[in-house]
Amino acid sequence: MEIQKQLKSHGAWIGKWTFILAATGSAVGLGNIWGFPYKAGTNGGGAFVLIYLGCILIIGLPIMISEIIIGRRAGNSPINAMKKIAIESNRSSIWQLVGWSGIFAGILILSFYSVIAGICLNYIFIAFTSNGLISSPDQFSSVISSPINLIAWHTIFIVLTALIVSAGVKDGIGRMVKILMPMLGFLMIFMVVYSMINGNFSQAMSFLFAPDFSNVTSDTLLQAMGQAFFSLSLGMGSIMAYGAYMPKNQNVVNSSFTVASLDTLIAILAGLAIFPIIFAFNLEPNSGPGLVFVSMLSAFNQMQFGQLIGPLFFILLSVAALSSSISLLEPGVAYLSEEGVLSRKSSAIIISIFIWILGLGSAFSFNIWSDFNLIGNKNFLDSMDFLANQILLPLGGMLIAIFVGWYMDKSLIKSEVGVTNSLLYRMWRFFVKFVAPLCVGYIFYRQFF
Ligand code: PFF
Repeated sequence: MEIQKQLKSHGAWIGKWTFILAATGSAVGLGNIWGFPYKAGTNGGGAFVLIYLGCILIIGLPIMISEIIIGRRAGNSPINAMKKIAIESNRSSIWQLVGWSGIFAGILILSFYSVIAGICLNYIFIAFTSNGLISSPDQFSSVISSPINLIAWHTIFIVLTALIVSAGVKDGIGRMVKILMPMLGFLMIFMVVYSMINGNFSQAMSFLFAPDFSNVTSDTLLQAMGQAFFSLSLGMGSIMAYGAYMPKNQNVVNSSFTVASLDTLIAILAGLAIFPIIFAFNLEPNSGPGLVFVSMLSAFNQMQFGQLIGPLFFILLSVAALSSSISLLEPGVAYLSEEGVLSRKSSAIIISIFIWILGLGSAFSFNIWSDFNLIGNKNFLDSMDFLANQILLPLGGMLIAIFVGWYMDKSLIKSEVGVTNSLLYRMWRFFVKFVAPLCVGYIFYRQFF
């Protein structure tokens, strides 16, 4: 067996709740509050929600448990964790490629994530510097038409992310999530109550929970699955990296359930905050990515206290985005710094610069590159999104499930989960070995062949 060099450690979360807060912070983000409602909206509502929930339960949750097991057992960044556990299980170290693909996916995701989060910051700024959220009806087009403007806010967001990550696991990420997450929870509940009172709540409920399967296609399946991976931050090593800092006495299965449930709850709450308002103003639920940035904005503009609630909504989005973006940057930074080549700070700076440059393409896709298509008929931003969320994350997740289900040494798994004769354990095993890989494989097959 190859002897592993001693890798630098990154510290650990203090207490059980820090992992839960950090992992929930990673999971809850633009994907829940911006992505989930608009995707549910364009895919017919209830049917999409139901398929999405199915994906979370039978694919997402088993893979989340697997990622945490690998991460905590290894105590390293995803690349080294995959390598180390593969070697300890007498398998080829080629499995580290899963870690590499994850870092690559994280870079792609953060590059456009930051541009969109930047738009949220820009809205907040506009709200506080002009008297109210909107100065003209088409705020969104004026925000996105200027490359300089988008790039400036993209820069601010990346810098914030890099600052937190470079401060370290305990003092940076751990400390920030304790502030950001309660804030997020409070704002979210506030928004839902506001929508219940001021919007058309019953129509929103039936839109989200009465499924109509007539429009479900293979693309709906792929979108729901991609959304499940994206929303739970799976398939790219964020949760694996966070798992590496989890205390040894913390229960992996219970923590995963908590994180997945909170993530799903927030996505549903976001739907319940947005759609009542959309319906109350007779706006279209299927307007796509502009749902939050255009439709909601025009609704806020006409609503009672809208000028106050609107900025709060975008603060909520920004907080959620920041607690996720740090988890997108962490795996790469952890890898570079544990290899001992660069300090954590320099690693964060170098990777962020790279991501910033890539993000320019996404910023341009709203304006000077709006006619430029990279993959098929998708512009630069949509291509990054497609490549990462619908290909790399499910693929990475599938490989992680196959690795844990078929290749990882059982005694290593046992040392992380404790009991291996319970019904829950056997169910998890079954899902990881068969259900998750086959479902991902099937959805890929239907979509691409
Ligand atoms: N889960 C985040 C969201 O829903 O916005 C985005 C994300 C974070 C995706 C971390 C992937 C990841 F590794």
